[in-house]
Amino acid sequence: MNTKVKNICCIGAGYVGGPSMAVIADKCSNIVVNVVDINIERIELWNSEDLENLPIYEPGLSSIIERCRNRNLFFTTNIEESIASADMIFISVNTPTKKKGLGAGKASDLKWVDASARQIARYAQGHTIVVEKSTLPIKTAQTIKEILAVEKEDLINKSMKNKTFDILSNPEFLSEGTAINDLENPDRILIGGENKKAIEELINIYSSWVNKEKILTTNLWSSELSKLIANAFLAQRISSINSISALCEKTGANIQEVSIAIGTDKRIGREFLNAGPGFGGSCFKKDISNLVYICDHYGLYEVSKYWEKVIDINNWQQKRISKIIIDRLFGTIAQKKIGILGFSFKANTNDTRESPAISICKELIEEGANLSIYDPKVSKSQIEKDMGQLSVKEISFLKGEGMWSFSQSIEESAYCSDAIVILSEWEEFRYINWKEISKIMRSPSWLFDTRLVSNINRDLSFGIKVWEIGCG
Ligand code: UDX
Ligand code: ADP
Repeated sequence: MNTKVKNICCIGAGYVGGPSMAVIADKCSNIVVNVVDINIERIELWNSEDLENLPIYEPGLSSIIERCRNRNLFFTTNIEESIASADMIFISVNTPTKKKGLGAGKASDLKWVDASARQIARYAQGHTIVVEKSTLPIKTAQTIKEILAVEKEDLINKSMKNKTFDILSNPEFLSEGTAINDLENPDRILIGGENKKAIEELINIYSSWVNKEKILTTNLWSSELSKLIANAFLAQRISSINSISALCEKTGANIQEVSIAIGTDKRIGREFLNAGPGFGGSCFKKDISNLVYICDHYGLYEVSKYWEKVIDINNWQQKRISKIIIDRLFGTIAQKKIGILGFSFKANTNDTRESPAISICKELIEEGANLSIYDPKVSKSQIEKDMGQLSVKEISFLKGEGMWSFSQSIEESAYCSDAIVILSEWEEFRYINWKEISKIMRSPSWLFDTRLVSNINRDLSFGIKVWEIGCG
């Protein structure tokens, strides 16, 4: 590797910062990588001896951590020192949608990016390449540049004038659950920037394991915008197929058959055509909202309305599923026990941000159902945070309604339940022994499969009535 970069700092040890720095450290053993975070508890978990207990569950991650941690990969709260010693700094902090103020509900809240830029301006030494890695609205690089310039001006009086910066945009396209494979074998690496030397430094790092032909360089704005647009296009495919799932249910068509039939057209492609309970995750809704906000800002109202519809269909799909469950259970679910299988926004992650399970479960609880929620990786405390309601020890279905309890297994969740709802596509949900489960459910029992993962045979379902998404 032909790089001058010997020391990297990443601000933010989350779902993006953690795995992406682990892979850089693994592939570039001659570079020291310090991942810093203000969240002490998170850093302690990254440093925990118990590799099963890392703050992020991601297949393949723990073995990389085991290999690299305290060799050339360090997790620390010592932000000042890590910034000072870095030649290159990645910003991987959270950028959720603003809850209040100008652009509330649409624009990204950049206060953590802002704080990171100020920390960099304060502690950096010599020349530093600053790389945007978080998903950010277009023109954020400009904001970072301005903050660095203003802060530097302020520090000149304190004889710290030797700092210089280059800003690059290097959006991350990893998908949770397959992050390590996505990072090790990316479809492309995108680098946006102005300074050729800085771009070359980042290319040198990636070319340790990525074919140079896969490394695309653009101007800053194209790179920032491409990340939003990639996510908007992916989310659009899901809203499209979800809208058709409803039509299949009415017409007797089958959404899986339709997906295969259209996906074999290579212009359309097979990926991202799985109907489900609606997309979740930290990026899709946030990025489309951002896109809508930008289009409105530039007076492109037709364009913003077009993309807003992708979010509208997603909300509609989630509501549609709760309504179907209520309707099938004779219009009332008060005091009924419903087993929920899967709470993460998709399989193979413990992340619940924007998970469709949150709104679906809240609606079922609102209608008086008692839920027993099981997810292989999401913790009880996380579900309590998302539900805004503490769990009860045991669902007592005669004495109360609108409660939920945390289940340790599929069986516990199914025990004495009137219905089971599959909300994320964890592998273990594909191999449920329905014969045994039917014996512990209350009759008439229902299965609602919103992911089409169940192996149940509709004609031999041991008395369980089956509803599957997109199946007429
Ligand atoms: C996404 C992008 O894929 C990734 O490139 C970007 O960096 C971050 O945002 P992520 O949110 O981790 O990644 O997961 P993704 O696999 O895209 O799934 C998002 C949501 O769409 C999930 O809720 C998933 O269940 C849903 N989905 C996906 C479907 O409902 N059907 C599909 O066919 C695919
Ligand atoms: P993402 O999915 O984008 O990685 P996460 O919320 O998982 O988002 O991670 C972002 C991390 O950034 C959090 O752990 C948060 O504590 C950290 N963070 C936010 N602001 C700062 C800051 N100024 N300095 C250090 N870490 C920060």
